[in-house]
Amino acid sequence: MRKPLMAGNWKMNKTIPEAVAMVKELKGKIADVKDVDVLLCPVFTALYPVANEVKGSNINIGAQDLFWEAKGAFTGEVAPNMITDAGCSFVIIGHSERRQYFGETNETVNKKIKAALSSGLIPVVCVGETLKEREDNVTFKVIESQVREGIKDLSKEEAAKVVIAYEPVWAIGTGKTATPDQAQEVHAFIRKVYGEMYGDVAEGTRILYGGSVKPSNVSELMKKEDIDGGLVGGASLKAEDFEALVKYGK
Ligand code: 13P
Repeated sequence: MRKPLMAGNWKMNKTIPEAVAMVKELKGKIADVKDVDVLLCPVFTALYPVANEVKGSNINIGAQDLFWEAKGAFTGEVAPNMITDAGCSFVIIGHSERRQYFGETNETVNKKIKAALSSGLIPVVCVGETLKEREDNVTFKVIESQVREGIKDLSKEEAAKVVIAYEPVWAIGTGKTATPDQAQEVHAFIRKVYGEMYGDVAEGTRILYGGSVKPSNVSELMKKEDIDGGLVGGASLKAEDFEALVKYGK
């Protein structure tokens, strides 16, 4: 009932020629994939050329962030309608690197989600605990407040569009993946909390796992009931690796 979504977060990687070359290669490799939704999130400068390159293919494009205002004196920021204008249909919001290095909070995440939804963008909202929080046994408390405060005050229709990504900070770029059981436990918890907020909407909500997902561990993760896809950093940068991730079930 929930169609899997395999998403690549390229972070601050790839120039325009590098980004276009990779999608050119990838789109042929995965042209026959219909049972998995595919999303790539390049840097802002590469969004428009990459979106042009994938037009008519099964690859969706998303930004890695946005600002909630529509326009004006906000130097360095990019508005939701500018992101749709560049050819995007998705946007990542509240990635742990933005929370850690750029001061994102549950409050800014909430504003960004609302702005994204009102411009017709699908937000991919990231939540996840740090290593210290896991060791201090506050994982569920942290996740619960990120979900309750970050994704609050939406209509049911809006809530149904949101994609949630569980990315334990200790597993990002470290090669240390959460075990499928560890991830499943948190995914089921997120679905329960989201269900308390938005009722039956939660059953249809896609919850992605992120943190050192690679071709060798993707299928074990995807077997878990509440894991509906991946949000992948490092392994999304090469066409052949990302192809293997998209085709995890084959
Ligand atoms: P890695 O796949 O490189 O661990 O990054 C995960 C991530 O942060 C995706 O948003």
